[in-house]
Amino acid sequence: MIKIGIVLGSTRPGRVGDQVARWVHERAARRGDAGFAVIDLRDHPLPHLEEPPGFSGRYEDERTRAFAAEIAACDGFVFVTPEYNHAMPGVLKNALDHVHVEWNSKAAGFVSYGGVGGARSAEQLRLVCGALQVADVAPQVTLPLVTEFENRTLFRPGDHQLAALDTLLDLVVAWSTALAPLRGGEAEAAIRGRLDEVVEALRAKDLEALRQIYAPDVVSFDVEPPLQHVGVEAKLQNWAKVFTFFEKVDYELRDLTITVGAGLAVGHGFGRVSGTLKNGVVADGMWVRATFVFRKLGGEWVIVHDQASVPFDMASGRGVVDLEP
Ligand SMILES: Cc1cc2nc3c(=O)[nH]c(=O)nc-3n(C[C@H](O)[C@H](O)[C@H](O)COP(=O)(O)O)c2cc1C
Repeated sequence: MIKIGIVLGSTRPGRVGDQVARWVHERAARRGDAGFAVIDLRDHPLPHLEEPPGFSGRYEDERTRAFAAEIAACDGFVFVTPEYNHAMPGVLKNALDHVHVEWNSKAAGFVSYGGVGGARSAEQLRLVCGALQVADVAPQVTLPLVTEFENRTLFRPGDHQLAALDTLLDLVVAWSTALAPLRGGEAEAAIRGRLDEVVEALRAKDLEALRQIYAPDVVSFDVEPPLQHVGVEAKLQNWAKVFTFFEKVDYELRDLTITVGAGLAVGHGFGRVSGTLKNGVVADGMWVRATFVFRKLGGEWVIVHDQASVPFDMASGRGVVDLEP
């Protein structure tokens, strides 16, 4: 089932936006065609943007990574936004700018509120969504403070607003579903980013960073004995062994091909560990055939299985370690 995030764009103390987001969520939760969750930007206190452009899906700050994981887990969005000075709140724009691939090829609808229903904020959001490759549906819900809120603060929407909300939700769900085939590209970028993280962690000899990339119950058919390494500790022991041999480690991946399915992805290519040994000898290493199986667990792609191998020479029974891709 697809998942729609209801993004609450106001974090202001005393905000009325939480009442509107709750109204959207309660109505949406009655539907059986999608899962819905509120993404409250108060739960994501992002700094003013300090990230490089997020086209690779790799982020420096763990606050960005947590936000990216939440956005990545959604197939579409309903933005609940007030209007501040004829525009969307700065906190919402900052959140939109923080990540990129996680928004791409998804659908969105707008529920806005303000003096004139927040329509100018919603129209501005449409432009930003265009830049983020988010397809926005035309029907909107606009909630004027004067008619839909008692004393401009207590949310009391007219019944006709429910019909408008239902129309918006129908379209957001339909478009989010229809765009699903395009989101394979986003998953592939995320997986390539994960493999870049493996390379970086190996170069940094960082076992803790590597731990984040494997599932706890990973089964690894590594090039080294035994036949299999079961669990992340066993896998990390193998990398730790590499780190004891090498003073300086490098890792190269070539000819990487990735195929993505629903929640599952397979990659294959050629990998080579090289570097400088503890005794100062420069080791070119050998090329191995590498296969990775990723699963999406808790919004993150992790390796659940990998194998690294060399072909063997039938006559001698020995592994062939001098082949080049
Ligand atoms: C800084 C600021 C600027 C505002 N500018 C507008 C505006 O241009 N147009 C409008 O309709 N309402 C405007 N309002 C009124 C807000 O829409 C209204 O206060 C609303 O409750 C804000 O949403 P929130 O309570 O969820 O933060 C503004 C409010 C603030 C705080």
